[in-house]
Amino acid sequence: MLLNQLKIFISSTIGKKIVVASTGLLFCLFLLAHLANNFVIYTGAENFNFLVKSLEKIKPLIRLAEVMLVLILGSHIYNSITLALKSKKAKGITNRSKIDVANASLSSRTMVFTGSILFIFLTVHLSTFWYTFQTSGRHDYYFMVTSESFGFGNILITSLYLLAMIILGFHLRHGFQSAIKTLGIGNTTLGKLLSLLSVVFWLLVPAGFFSIAFWFGIVKHFGLV
Ligand code: HEM
Repeated sequence: MLLNQLKIFISSTIGKKIVVASTGLLFCLFLLAHLANNFVIYTGAENFNFLVKSLEKIKPLIRLAEVMLVLILGSHIYNSITLALKSKKAKGITNRSKIDVANASLSSRTMVFTGSILFIFLTVHLSTFWYTFQTSGRHDYYFMVTSESFGFGNILITSLYLLAMIILGFHLRHGFQSAIKTLGIGNTTLGKLLSLLSVVFWLLVPAGFFSIAFWFGIVKHFGLV
């Protein structure tokens, strides 16, 4: 009975919006932790290699977190796409003003577009960094991240990271704005506070990743310092 009600709620538009917002927020928390780990790279190869090697010691926990991340991201993508399709379908039968509908469908199309680019980025990122870290059997992680074949020693890879981080910022900014709107708290103190807090996720986190790619892929790679 309760399970049935939950199923109906999750397949409703508002239920889907809540799932998209909460899975997006959970992924943002992962990004914050991921960035904190990655920042260690600024302190040199020794510290960075030591940190990644230490994570190997809690591998079962990391594997569990990875499975959860796949589920979180899978559900985020699935529900975003079904919402976008629903909004496209509603275009013909809604009685909202034409401008409202046009705006809503433009922003949902933009989110699908930026999300797709981020998906391509993530596929490249995991098939290079993550895959090599898992399979190479080597522990010179710093060397791999800055390598010419797939790391920041390769200008194409660096460019992809720089572009993807700008797109990540836009995607997250819009995501937070629309989640706050969905909750109907845009004009309340809580809404304003959340909007202010969201700057950490949509501006500072992408800027932090951007800085790493810029420092190693441009500044250090081209010997600018
Ligand atoms: C400068 C930017 C980044 C660097 C240097 C970086 C580095 C890494 C490295 C080295 C790994 C492998 C870790 C391991 O297997 O122990 C990894 C995994 C991963 N990265 Fe990144 N990353 C960056 C940005 C991002 C961004 C922007 C996202 C998401 C939008 C992301 C998502 C992931 C995910 C999902 C994993 C796999 C989960 C895990 O095993 O921790 N990364 N990253």
